[in-house]
Amino acid sequence: MNEIYKNPSYSPEERTKDLIERMTLEEKVGQMCQIDGRENPEFWINERHIGSFLHVRGKEASRLQELAGKTRFGIPIIFGIDAIHGHGFYSGATVFPSQLALASSWNPEILRKMAAITAKEVTLTGLHWTFSPVLCLGRDARWGRVDETFGEDPYLTGCLASEMIKGYQGENLSDPYSIIACAKHYAAYGETQGGRDSTEADVSERKLKSIFLPPFKAAAEAGCASFMTAYQSIDGVPCSANKMLLKDILKDEWKLKGFIITDWDNVGYMHRLQKVAPDMKKSAELAILAGNDMFMSTPEFYECAVELVKEGSIKEELIDEACGRILETKFRLGLFDEKRNPDFSKAVSIIGCAEHRKVAYESALESIVLLKNDNSVLPVSDKIKKIAVIGPNADDVEAQLGDWSFGPRYYPEKPLLEYNEYDTSNIITILDGIKRRAGSKVEIVYEKGCDMFDSSIESISSSVELANNSDMVIAVVGDTTLLNGEVRDRSGLDLTGAQQKLLEALKKTGKPLVVVLINGKPLTVPWIKDNADAIIEAWNPGMEGGNAVAAVLFGDFNPCGKITITFPRNVGQSPVFYNQYPGWHGSAKYIDVDSEPLFQFGYGLSYTSFKYSNMKLSSKEVKVDDFLTVSVDVTNTGAYKGTEIVQLYINDIFSSVTTPIKELKGFERITLNAGDTSSVQIKLPVSALSLIDRNCMEVVEPGEFEILIGSSSRDCDLLKDVIKVV
Ligand code: BGC
Repeated sequence: MNEIYKNPSYSPEERTKDLIERMTLEEKVGQMCQIDGRENPEFWINERHIGSFLHVRGKEASRLQELAGKTRFGIPIIFGIDAIHGHGFYSGATVFPSQLALASSWNPEILRKMAAITAKEVTLTGLHWTFSPVLCLGRDARWGRVDETFGEDPYLTGCLASEMIKGYQGENLSDPYSIIACAKHYAAYGETQGGRDSTEADVSERKLKSIFLPPFKAAAEAGCASFMTAYQSIDGVPCSANKMLLKDILKDEWKLKGFIITDWDNVGYMHRLQKVAPDMKKSAELAILAGNDMFMSTPEFYECAVELVKEGSIKEELIDEACGRILETKFRLGLFDEKRNPDFSKAVSIIGCAEHRKVAYESALESIVLLKNDNSVLPVSDKIKKIAVIGPNADDVEAQLGDWSFGPRYYPEKPLLEYNEYDTSNIITILDGIKRRAGSKVEIVYEKGCDMFDSSIESISSSVELANNSDMVIAVVGDTTLLNGEVRDRSGLDLTGAQQKLLEALKKTGKPLVVVLINGKPLTVPWIKDNADAIIEAWNPGMEGGNAVAAVLFGDFNPCGKITITFPRNVGQSPVFYNQYPGWHGSAKYIDVDSEPLFQFGYGLSYTSFKYSNMKLSSKEVKVDDFLTVSVDVTNTGAYKGTEIVQLYINDIFSSVTTPIKELKGFERITLNAGDTSSVQIKLPVSALSLIDRNCMEVVEPGEFEILIGSSSRDCDLLKDVIKVV
């Protein structure tokens, strides 16, 4: 018998068709299941024909793959893992800055490199799939998962995510070092009420299409081979039961080439938490009909789906389609042909190697944002001979690496990696980095100063003494993984424990105060803005974070990052994202807080300064299918070579529906020597001026548009002109 599915000279489609025709209903449904591979995997392979495991690490993947090879068709298992800023659950792997940190680089190239390295390290451990990138928008900093996002802007999110996807998936999925990416969480998961993880998101179809779907569309266009549905409901419908989102838009309109997976037990949640299904079977039915293909961690799904088909509630063609998408992806990955069994001897020399760490270092450098630098207190001058490094995050591996690395915080009861299994010797903390860089010329003294979870101030006095005896204080404060991440939303965003008191005491010493923030999300720190001499926002800068922060402090690297999420002054000021809708009555805004947020989207300083002039438009009157070229001269007016991120925004002056007061539509990075000027050109398709109209259709309405270009989203940083679409 001609077994087409075994023959690599046939296409993935032909092989899939052939294999599906041979499979029983049970075998096909088994392919649609993904289970935690630490839970009775033999049963799932032998009795349930499992398609995928997640959370398998180390040599276990090879063992399970071997078992799968012995089943009737030997269908390989696809292994998924949350390698979202490096292969963080594998001790020794390269840990990059968090996604939010990386976004501050506005550097698609570095994201692509980071993803390609992650893919290589993941494949070397026998896995094939990462649940990354996260395309949720971080528009409410109370939400625990803001650190996983690219920040608040849909356009930037789409651009950066696309590069990351290309980095993971490579030129071709069959490249042995490529893995499949997963665009998640589809959709509007970051928009849940009050930042409460997984509660309802009150988002209309129009808003969904205007703000939340564009990044996912960009991911589909970049060829992302899997999408994960979000936990929450939109307008009463759980995302996993939303046929419009999954089938109509993602599969039919965007032509997804790959498959859709639910998030962790979404099917169970629809029954138990969201209560839209009286039992698991109904829940499974809703999810299949909506268009999900694979079901993460809902063991009951197997029996439910088999029964639903047998009783006629679900047509077997739907199962064939779902299973077919999964199998086709496995064929595309080349899993059937070379089992991609990990070569651990190779892994040892490649995972976390110097070349990979170099990229971790470069990406950390570019992720760092200088938020304040009064009187050029930075870079540290030669006159400084003794520095007091103080603060709970100065020497804390966990806070520095952030979520989705160093395992335990994610599943405290069932960690992916125990603390003692994680080799922290190669993580350069901020203190390590400063000490290394300072060498023998500058004396570095250190104290933790206070605790993040204890407001007692006993230890502050000795830190103050250290500060008094030093020429400069570098205070490293922020948050840590217990204050961030899934199911860890916050109602307040102030510094916790005695951190604020520590800073106030250090300030009183009168020594120059540099604050380094190590944090997963914007914090409400107006005191720091008013009182620190310099502020470095380093986010979760990864394993090379200490070296990168030190390079910035001592001027080896001129910081160029710009924040991609707006910082509120206080929590009540939220939401503060820059692309607000117009119409807030009154000019003072909230009467009890400054009308401006603390730091705005796109903001970030450099050790040099840039001047914008001579803005030009290629045309003042354009048609919908034209391109507009916006150019501007940028001059480095300071004393250092530096990189500037030039940002292009638009504003539809009058429109049939309200549109954001400003929307990012392009950006460009430019590096200039001191004194140099260069013209930056950004090409904008006029179709990018579209809005979603009252009928939920995408249109470009004729009329006038403001075109704004400059160094941040703040009005004072932008040059402006007007074009007319005819
Ligand atoms: C998270 C996903 C993650 C999955 C697997 C879920 O709880 O929401 O982002 O990929 O778990 O770990």
